Amino acid sequence: MSPFLLTRTLPEDATEAALRADVLRGLTGTPKTLPPKWFYDAHGSDLFEQITELPEYYPTRAEREILIARSGEIAEATGARTLVELGSGSSEKTRYLLDALTGLDTYIPVDVSESALTQAGQALIAERPGLQVHALIADFTASLTLPDAPGPRLVAFLGGTIGNLLPAERAVFLAAIRSLLSPGDALLLGTDLVKDEQVLVRAYDDAAGVTAAFDKNVLTVVNRELGADFHADAFDHVALWDAENEWIEMRLRSRTEQTVKIPALDLAVDFGAGEELRTEISAKFRKEGVRAELSTAGLELAHWWTDDEGRFALSLSVAR
Ligand code: SAH
Ligand code: AVI
Repeated sequence: MSPFLLTRTLPEDATEAALRADVLRGLTGTPKTLPPKWFYDAHGSDLFEQITELPEYYPTRAEREILIARSGEIAEATGARTLVELGSGSSEKTRYLLDALTGLDTYIPVDVSESALTQAGQALIAERPGLQVHALIADFTASLTLPDAPGPRLVAFLGGTIGNLLPAERAVFLAAIRSLLSPGDALLLGTDLVKDEQVLVRAYDDAAGVTAAFDKNVLTVVNRELGADFHADAFDHVALWDAENEWIEMRLRSRTEQTVKIPALDLAVDFGAGEELRTEISAKFRKEGVRAELSTAGLELAHWWTDDEGRFALSLSVAR
């Protein structure tokens, strides 16, 4: 087998059909919403990488600190021969795991962003000639079929991306992951933790405006793919902390009353002045909440590691 394979699990028109369905549902509902997976075209993936280097955006640095300290223990606990990574993006932090997993045979990065998968995969095979990289362009919230690869398998879901799913979506997602695991396999999950509101809000509303550009990128995607006429500068980026749900919400607030046309859906969407479109939630967690969600899905928390400042956690769990 060639050391780099890229498989699209769904035809391209299925992706467009999914976008049409999400935009129709999300922009005709109240309040208006769009799912965050549509941020990540090539430009959105690039903006996300810029976010990870912002002084205000601590999760990437905190998770990297844990991976540097704990990858050896993770390797010892799992003995993984296959690493599956969901929402792998640039696979930047994954390198610590790849270094520690000395018996690793196959790396399976899974992402909706083809550009991120191609760049990361090409770089990895150049650096690690013995490694098989089988990248999957796939939606991790849809049913996932993994290619054959030797066990034990470690499924990693890093970055706190699980927090971008609503609680009900997380329950479905974790149960689906549980069903992928055989005895001896494990799940490595990154979760951002509840902390001071100002620290959280700043992480999602940085001074340089990179997160605002990332937020507005979803409008560019809808314009390009569905012929819509969103004007990014007719919306303001908003980040707020929902204390009851313990999540950050990103929204785009319409500056004026306006109508946006979406020809591919034969749709005109009215926005009132100040009306907000929710583009993302980013839930923050506590240890007992993570344990409970894992347990409901049939997974047992085996290890819990945080960075020194207790900002972010990595957990390792196994099927019960
Ligand atoms: N794991 C990396 C990247 C996090 S950004 C890190 O920790 O830095 C979130 C990644 O998940 C992006 O690469 C995005 O393209 C991908 N993603 C978001 N929603 C997805 C979905 N439903 N299915 C597959 N990939 C998704
Ligand atoms: C990918 N995900 C975990 C990021 C987060 O922090 O929720 C996406 C993001 N949104 C704004 N900044 C980063």
